[in-house]
Amino acid sequence: MILGIESTCDETGAALVHDGRVLSNVVASSAALHAAYGGVVPEIASRACVESIGPVVKEALGDHAWEQVDAVAVAHRPGLIGSLLVGVSAAQALAWSLGKPLIGVDHVRAHLHSVTLDVGNVQLPAVGLVASGGHTSLYHVRDWHDITRLGGTIDDAVGEAYDKVAAILELGYPGGPLIDRLATNGDPAAVKFPRSMLGRDSLDFSFSGLKTAVLYHVRGAKGRERTVADLDERTIADTAASFQQAVIDTLLKKLERAMEQTGAQSVILGGGVSANRGLRAALPSLGVPVAMPKPAYCTDNAAMIAGLGEAMLAAGDIADLDLAAVPN
Ligand code: KG4
Ligand code: ZN
Repeated sequence: MILGIESTCDETGAALVHDGRVLSNVVASSAALHAAYGGVVPEIASRACVESIGPVVKEALGDHAWEQVDAVAVAHRPGLIGSLLVGVSAAQALAWSLGKPLIGVDHVRAHLHSVTLDVGNVQLPAVGLVASGGHTSLYHVRDWHDITRLGGTIDDAVGEAYDKVAAILELGYPGGPLIDRLATNGDPAAVKFPRSMLGRDSLDFSFSGLKTAVLYHVRGAKGRERTVADLDERTIADTAASFQQAVIDTLLKKLERAMEQTGAQSVILGGGVSANRGLRAALPSLGVPVAMPKPAYCTDNAAMIAGLGEAMLAAGDIADLDLAAVPN
């Protein structure tokens, strides 16, 4: 039984995983403390992690005895250094005092591995896409210990683009779920927004042009400028749906390219944006097996850290007790 700990940003999570099954999964979020600032304040996030880590680990352990924990897995990269240090320090102390192995897990790779939680193995090799508020990256997953990064965003992450477009449309934060809901009432073909593909063979992403195109669309033609208050419900829903369609088309095209270039014949999706209903509905059109995490494992959680930690333990991939917290 693996105890997983995750504190890379504004969440503090702990979970127990045994044989790929999630026994408990506890997440404390400090999002409400950051709302007044319009984004995560690292110092506030790390202090909230300090306050939450003890109670969260205790709640995840539940009625289990400490002796039942076979290893402690912690997300030690990438993330905010202050938050990372809280989880890493706690995991080091627990592993040392219990006399059990410590496992250092990469947060982004754990997002990919989250597709196996409660489900079991998925088809490998695969092309993996992590789409979240901080990352938009493609991977070639040959095996869980053999993952190569193929490309990623050169500007905004896809979740970040969702959040910024939601701000432009004055919908609220976080924007992903709000646009997702609104898009179901809109016409995805109403506005022809750009699909940035970069170079012919590029596996990188760029979403800042799309975000700017939405801004200009909302603002309207020169001389006849408008604000969100001037738009009717239909226009706002059409804008949300058309933006989302541009995102989905771009992600699907890049997944196709990555499959062509690697020869992999299946897809794995992870990260907060993998909760998007439009994206989940569109992926089967790729015509290959697609693995998506259960909704509870899309956004940041410790179950995915324990899950990948379990696979790493089986492969003997154990960290030293002086494991470093690595922000990048
Ligand atoms: O993985 P995550 O919890 O945190 C990071 O590691 O970044 O992802 C959070 C991001 C936010 O940008 C949020 O707007 C987006 O995921 N998100 C969504 C949806 N649910 C969350 N984006 C689109 N559609 C959704 N349903
Ligand atoms: Zn994440």
